Amino acid sequence: MTKINIILGSSRKSSIGRHLFNYLKNNQSEYEKEINAQLNFIEIGQYELPFFYEALPPMNNKNRSLPDNEQKWLDDMADADGYIFLTPEYNHSFPAVIKNAIDYLSFQMSGKAVLTMTYSNNARGGQFGGLELNEVLTRLNAFVVPQNVAIGNVQKNFDENGNFLEDAPSKEFYENKLKQSIKKIIFYSNLFKENPFKG
Ligand SMILES: Cc1cc2nc3c(=O)[nH]c(=O)nc-3n(C[C@H](O)[C@H](O)[C@H](O)COP(=O)(O)O)c2cc1C
Repeated sequence: MTKINIILGSSRKSSIGRHLFNYLKNNQSEYEKEINAQLNFIEIGQYELPFFYEALPPMNNKNRSLPDNEQKWLDDMADADGYIFLTPEYNHSFPAVIKNAIDYLSFQMSGKAVLTMTYSNNARGGQFGGLELNEVLTRLNAFVVPQNVAIGNVQKNFDENGNFLEDAPSKEFYENKLKQSIKKIIFYSNLFKENPFKG
């Protein structure tokens, strides 16, 4: 079965990204029923990765020996067939915790589809952060699925438990958009899984 990691890219305790993350989590069984896939919800913060410190670049190092929490991040990413990164925009880019976690990776995302979903507490949806993230993901040989999905005004639409607020201005729009995004990442993940580049 196709496995998708949905990754929360903010490590803040008060992250509004978690509202969106929880919304997707709440709908997990409905999505999975419709699309025959397994969604795994992970938070970058849960791995407690230190700033990258290894002596060799991961892509040049076949014999890495890492503490369990760091190895778990690598294994969880290797295990998936596709990914959704949920990222806010911090100072017109994506958060340093995402970049740090990505720097631990080498082949784990290679040849797999990834969709970037940006969000913000304003109407712009954090789009600059997503543009920069896409460039970095390409370096890992992942296929960035067009187009980025931008979710603005998260706090006006979702509560912290991932339920729509009663007066959510964009309920129907986001319901459809998020469902479509899940369908899209499954479609492209399957495509690349079933047609691996053999060189
Ligand atoms: C360090 C920092 C930098 C930010 N920079 C931007 C920015 O460049 N553009 C923007 O639209 N919002 C910016 N914001 C506002 C974020 O959209 C908002 O704080 C959001 O809640 C961040 O996501 P999080 O709560 O999941 O961490 C910034 C927030 C932080 C904490």
